[in-house]
Amino acid sequence: MKKDGLTIVDNRTDETYEVPFHKGTIRAMDLRKIKTGPDDFGLMTYDPAFMNTASCHSAITYIDGDKGILRYRGYPIEQLAEHCTFLEVAYLLLEGELPNQAQLKTWIDNITHHTMLHESTKHFLEGFRYDAHPMAMFISTVAALATNYPEARHVHDAETRRLQIYRLIGKVPTIAAYTYRHGLGFPYVYPDNDLGYSENFLNMLWKMAEAKYQANPVLARALDILFILHADHEQNCSANVMRSVGSSQADPFVATAAAAAALSGPLHGGANEEVLKMIDEIGSKDRVPAYIEGIKAGKGKLMGFGHRVYKNYDPRARIIKETAERVFEITGKNPKLDIALELERIALEDEYFIKRKLYPNVDFYSGIIYQAMGFNPDMFTVLFAIPRTAGWLAQWEEMVSDPEQKIARPRQIYTGHEERKVVPMAEREAK
Ligand code: COA
Repeated sequence: MKKDGLTIVDNRTDETYEVPFHKGTIRAMDLRKIKTGPDDFGLMTYDPAFMNTASCHSAITYIDGDKGILRYRGYPIEQLAEHCTFLEVAYLLLEGELPNQAQLKTWIDNITHHTMLHESTKHFLEGFRYDAHPMAMFISTVAALATNYPEARHVHDAETRRLQIYRLIGKVPTIAAYTYRHGLGFPYVYPDNDLGYSENFLNMLWKMAEAKYQANPVLARALDILFILHADHEQNCSANVMRSVGSSQADPFVATAAAAAALSGPLHGGANEEVLKMIDEIGSKDRVPAYIEGIKAGKGKLMGFGHRVYKNYDPRARIIKETAERVFEITGKNPKLDIALELERIALEDEYFIKRKLYPNVDFYSGIIYQAMGFNPDMFTVLFAIPRTAGWLAQWEEMVSDPEQKIARPRQIYTGHEERKVVPMAEREAK
């Protein structure tokens, strides 16, 4: 009869070990029993950048990178983007099910009751230089929320956790809008809780002297769709940071700030800003072929292309491309779109990109829409961080409630010196 699991023979000892399968994986700790003797630590796996290591069980987001599938809690991203609001999706990520009318109303009430920032947080923001990068201000200010809510440290209390979740989802748009207005020297606009999540964000960004700010409904809906698309993406770099920092039982404000810091890098959420810089550098459609040749010759990467998981068209990029058309009907076309389309066309036909399965990712088109809507590139990653906060919190909540999780702490392969003696300063020679 066929056995389940692996039979491993250690050629050093001729010992045979049975390693059972666990949901299509093997448990790395099962390898520890493979030893050459009692003093041997046991076998470990070596996996820099977690290329082939599952760090958790998760029921939140499913990605099939080869087929270009993304689902939250089983629902395809395309259907969520078509039928739901961002706050419904945030509820789905955190609660596991879509809300009914009554549940949604309570959820929205809870979030909107926490959109205000403490005045001390406002003053904290005022301390930044006028030209501070919005993402750096965002990260610092989210961390600073911990100073206002010290009870957030009680991470084993479900009710306390829930309150911080409302606070974070409620306050991140306010912080984001304040970072924007800070740079311009405009007075901060307080949240308007009559408005939906995206409308209120636009209100806090762009309200000037008018009594009530009315966002263009097409642009507000487009932003809400972008928020849905960015809400979660399973164990990406920043989600992993959220879980890792959270695993030490740090409070969710500093854990979210750490996750946002991970997002800010150009290989993660910072890529959308880099795409716009790249398009500006290319300058015109006719210079695209030469630029692609440069990339192939090793001069940098084509930003907004490629993904650790997707080896097919990123489904979010497809929805963004469709959403862009509706946005451009209101704002007029962003001329950079032509350069982006040409880049995509040439790259998708090119052997270099085909062979490596490099397709446009979510960041390739998002910046072009954001710019058409009036955002500067330095705000793009902040726009990513707002909805991703819901995903980070869902990942954190799942991690805190998982009895198998402990403080995250990888092993290493030590490659340094053996023990050696300290040479007194007078006897040390220059190296
Ligand atoms: N442009 C050109 N070549 C690229 C590329 C890009 N955007 N992304 C990957 N490659 C190449 C690599 O150079 C490598 O080529 P090689 O096999 O000849 O060495 C191969 O494709 C595999 O890439 P690798 O770096 O191993 O993939 P990864 O899974 O570690 O990286 C990303 C994934 C996202 C970090 C990477 O594709 C990238 O840097 N993309 C640009 C930044 C970006 O858009 N990030 C947003 C992600 S949502």
